[in-house]
Amino acid sequence: MSLVKGYSKLSKDQKLDWLVQNYFHNDNSVKEEFKAYWHRDDNAQARYDEFSENTLTNFYMPYGIAPNFMINGKDYALPMVIEESSVVAAMANTGKFWYDKGGFHAQVISVEKVGQVHFLYFGDKEFLKSRFSEIRSFLIENGAYLSINMDGRGGGVLDIELVDFSEHEEGYFQLKATFDTCDSMGANFINTMLEEYATLLKDYICLERGFDATIEIIMSIVSNYTPKSLVRAWVECPIEKLGVVAGYSAQQFAQKIKMAVRIAEIDPHRATTHNKGIYNGVDALIIATGNDFRAVEACGHTYAAKSGHYASLTHCSLADGVFKFWIDLPLAIGTVGGLTQLHPLVKRSLEILGNPDAKGLMEIVACAGLAQNFAALKALTTVGIQQGHMKMHLLNILNHLNASEEEKTFALTYFKDKVVSFTTTRVMLEQLRSAKVKDGR
Ligand code: MEV
Repeated sequence: MSLVKGYSKLSKDQKLDWLVQNYFHNDNSVKEEFKAYWHRDDNAQARYDEFSENTLTNFYMPYGIAPNFMINGKDYALPMVIEESSVVAAMANTGKFWYDKGGFHAQVISVEKVGQVHFLYFGDKEFLKSRFSEIRSFLIENGAYLSINMDGRGGGVLDIELVDFSEHEEGYFQLKATFDTCDSMGANFINTMLEEYATLLKDYICLERGFDATIEIIMSIVSNYTPKSLVRAWVECPIEKLGVVAGYSAQQFAQKIKMAVRIAEIDPHRATTHNKGIYNGVDALIIATGNDFRAVEACGHTYAAKSGHYASLTHCSLADGVFKFWIDLPLAIGTVGGLTQLHPLVKRSLEILGNPDAKGLMEIVACAGLAQNFAALKALTTVGIQQGHMKMHLLNILNHLNASEEEKTFALTYFKDKVVSFTTTRVMLEQLRSAKVKDGR
């Protein structure tokens, strides 16, 4: 295969032909298979195609709902896009578990976004530092024309600081700007502002220091680490109200959860899996609401390591007979802009959630992460994770083994009191099929 030129300019059919020729031995049935996932409405398909580039087809993911969630006294059903079935089931069960114990609570702590202009400056450091207050005003005043809309919505630039990293790398400085982007995630707005600030900074230095300018802009880009775009979510109840869980008394269960959290505070190996479980819930909602799950995850993992040691994002206390379980989650997300108005199911997800503003969505998402962690720890510290997981996974295994609807129904009853694994499912199916052959069915 040689380098393909102008691939992006080909029609969708031509792109598929190229794929099938080069990767599927020219098997036209593969092309038809890809096309089978096209939307039946050409206009809708055109819209999906435009979300990305070199689009060939659509990649289906399950869209599910976890009902019975109470957050700040209000009922919610949470839309979730995820391929791991036990996650939706766990979310729904946890919603129910906490419903009569006061439900979930959440509060946004702050909503500050960050962007940086990274530059090299080999001139007089003291000049830069002593003039910085004037430079800040120059940047803010001359960049203001680009933030008129955002200012009108009550947001805009909050501050610009000079950060000196020259001890780490000779000449390396930053403009570190903070923004309020209201209900949008704001990356595009921030990047536009930063590029303008970079140009203005260069102009200022050239004007003041002459054209032997000692400044070089390296790059201007939003930072996905937003520790001050932070939301807290929590559940709490008297320990006794937790009730008996899988044979464990409320006291024993509460202690076990606390210890499970403690382990994730101590050990990064466990913390990674612990936090992965949190993002099972967070990402599913983030995708359903058209937000950027890569940015959200990157931010959360950096936050989890903010002490210099990667640790649990959730915390647990058992003070004064009260079980309290909480998460502080940095989230830079939006309910306007991006896919939110374009993707039909994103619009529906937001409607299901009551069309929250960005702060409202932050609260809901943090509760989803907390709930998912509670569900995982509840299972892990009592009956183990495999029982529930493999039951839910059973259908995937059955599909993989081409089980018929009748065989699936049989298997669901058969495995009610047995351990599910790929092997036990395969053996069960073989036995079922050979019994049928013997019976002449
Ligand atoms: C699986 O997707 C997530 C868990 O591993 C999370 C955890 O261990 O806490 C169950």
